[in-house]
Amino acid sequence: MCGIVGYTGYREAAEVCRLGLLRLEYRGYDSYGIATLSPSLSVYKHVGKISDSATSSNHLRGDTGIGHTRWATHGVPSEKNAHPHLDAKKKIAVVHNGIIENYAELRRGLEERGVVFASDTDTEVIPHLIAEHYTKNLFQAVESILPMLKGSYALLIITEGEDTLVAARNGSPLVLGVGDGEYVLGSDALPLLDYTRQAVYFEDGDTAEITRDGFTIHNKGVSVSRNITEIEWNADEAKKGGYQHYMLKEIFEQPEVFANTLSSIKSKSEAVDMIRNAHAITIVACGTSANASMIFSYLMEGICHIPTRVILASEFKYFPTMFTDLVIGVSQSGETADTLAALKLAKDRGSQTLAITNVLGSTITRVASLVLYTRAGPEMSVAATKSFTSQVAAFLQIVNLLSDYKLETELSEIKRYLPEILSTDLSKAVDLCKNATTLLYIGRGLFYPVALEGALKMKEISYIHAEGYAAGELKHGPFALLSPKTPVISTCVSNCVYPVMMSNLKEIKARNAPIIVIGKNCDKDLEDVADVCIPLPAVSEYGAVVLSSVILQLLAYQTAVSLGNDVDMPRNLAKSVTVE
Ligand code: F6R
Repeated sequence: MCGIVGYTGYREAAEVCRLGLLRLEYRGYDSYGIATLSPSLSVYKHVGKISDSATSSNHLRGDTGIGHTRWATHGVPSEKNAHPHLDAKKKIAVVHNGIIENYAELRRGLEERGVVFASDTDTEVIPHLIAEHYTKNLFQAVESILPMLKGSYALLIITEGEDTLVAARNGSPLVLGVGDGEYVLGSDALPLLDYTRQAVYFEDGDTAEITRDGFTIHNKGVSVSRNITEIEWNADEAKKGGYQHYMLKEIFEQPEVFANTLSSIKSKSEAVDMIRNAHAITIVACGTSANASMIFSYLMEGICHIPTRVILASEFKYFPTMFTDLVIGVSQSGETADTLAALKLAKDRGSQTLAITNVLGSTITRVASLVLYTRAGPEMSVAATKSFTSQVAAFLQIVNLLSDYKLETELSEIKRYLPEILSTDLSKAVDLCKNATTLLYIGRGLFYPVALEGALKMKEISYIHAEGYAAGELKHGPFALLSPKTPVISTCVSNCVYPVMMSNLKEIKARNAPIIVIGKNCDKDLEDVADVCIPLPAVSEYGAVVLSSVILQLLAYQTAVSLGNDVDMPRNLAKSVTVE
C-alpha cells in the first residue's frame, strides 16, 4: 500500500526514483509523484499508473530526490492528493507510506494557526508541522515533530537549502541501499537492486539522516548502528523476462520455485522443531496465504494429528480467549498489517510465534520469534501465484519431515508433472467462464481451500463474481444461484470423497449449471457429468492439490486476458496490504 523511494548520490535522482517506483508499482498505482533538489525544489505528479504516463518526470534535475506511488486511503486519486506533499512555502517535500491516525486533530490545529491545506490527505500535516519547527536543520525538525504523529509511517523528506535526505520508520517498511557514493531508499529492496545488494532494514522508531557521504541513524534520540544485510534477490528476477505479464512469468516459475522451497526446508531446523513440539497450532494469515494455510491445517490434522486451525488474521483479535502454544503467521510480503497485529497479539497472550514468509528483512521477521523463508523470489504480480505454491511446498515438506508417513514419492511426482501442467489446453473452460455472471468453485477436504483460492484468483483479475464453497455447503443456500449462466468448477479425483463429489456434480447438472471438472485423466464418469473436463496426470491427492491449483491460476489468467483486463494491476487492489 503505497511505495516510496529516495535517492542521493551522483545520478539524476528523478530517473532513479521513477525506475524505483516502477518496481514498487505493485504496492499502489492510483497516482505517482517525484520531487528533486537542484538546488530548488521541483515536483512532478501524475494521476494513473507510471507505465501509462504520457508525460514524465525526466525534466526534473538534481541528484537528491524522493518519489511515491499511491494506493488511496485519505482522498480520491487526484493530482492534489498525489505525493510528495509540500509545506505552504513549497520548500519541504514529504512522501509517506502508512496512515497518520490523528491527522484530523493535527490538521485542525494547523488550520487554527493559519495553514491552508492543498490536499485531502493525512500526510499533508507532516510538511506543515516540519515547517513550523524548521530552523535550518531538517533532521532536528523532523525528530521534533515525530512524537506528535500517531499511526504508521515510512517517511522520506527533503528541503531546499540542505543536501540531506531524512528518513523515518514506524510500522511501515523502509530499506536503505548502501551503494558506492550513493544511497537508494525503498519500501522494499526491489528499487535498490540495480545499484547495490547491501541493505539496512530500518527498525520502528528509527530516524536517519542521509547524505551522499554517509548516513546516521537515531532511535529515541540516541545514535544506533544497524547491520548491513546482503539482499538475496537479483535485478533480473524482478523483471518480466519476455512474458506478457508478471503473473504469467510467476506461474511458469512454479516448477523451479516448488523444488527450491522443498530443498530449503531442513529436518534439523528450529522452525520445524517448533512445529514438531506444538500441541496445537493456530495460523493467522490473509487472502491467498490463508488459503494455503488451510491446506496445511488439513495435512496437519490428517497426517500429523496435531490440531491446527486457521483464523483470518483480521478476525484473530475478536477471539480474546483463543490460546494455542504455537501461532504461525503466514505472509508472502511479511508486511500485511492484520497478520502482523495478530502475531503481536499472540505473543502478548504468551504463545510462541513463527513467521513463514517470502521476504527477507520484512517486518514479520522481527515480530516472530523464529522465521522460515519460502524462497519463492520476488513476486510482482498483485495476484499471488508462486507464493501460494511455495507455501504449499513448505507445508508438504514440513508434514513429510514430521510424520511417519513419508511423502517423498508424492513430492517427486509433483516436481515431475508441474512443467507439463503449464501447457494444459483451457480454451473451452475459458469460453464458459468469460461469459458467466457467477462462478462457483467447490471442493471437499484438501480441495476446499483449492476451491477458495481458485475463486479468489478468478475474481481479483477477471472481475467476475466467483465464490469458493465446501461442496457439502452448496445445498445450504448457494444452490439457489445455479443456472446455465453459473458454471461450477471442481477438482474431483479418486480419493475417499470421490463418490460423494460425483453425487454433488450430478445434482448440479440436474439444475442445468455447466460443470468444469479437473480430474485424473478424465474418466468416463467425469466425461458424462462434465461440460468441460480438464485432465490431470495420475498423481496422488497431494499432487492433485498442487497441480489443480496451478490449473485454476491459469484459468483465471487466461479468462482475465481474454476480457482485456490489466492482469498485473487489477482495479482497486494493491499487493501489500499494510493498513488494517
Ligand atoms: C491474492 C493476494 C492477497 C494476499 C493477501 C496476503 O492474490 O495476493 O490475497 O495473499 O493480501 O498477503 P501476504 O501473503 O503478503 O500477507
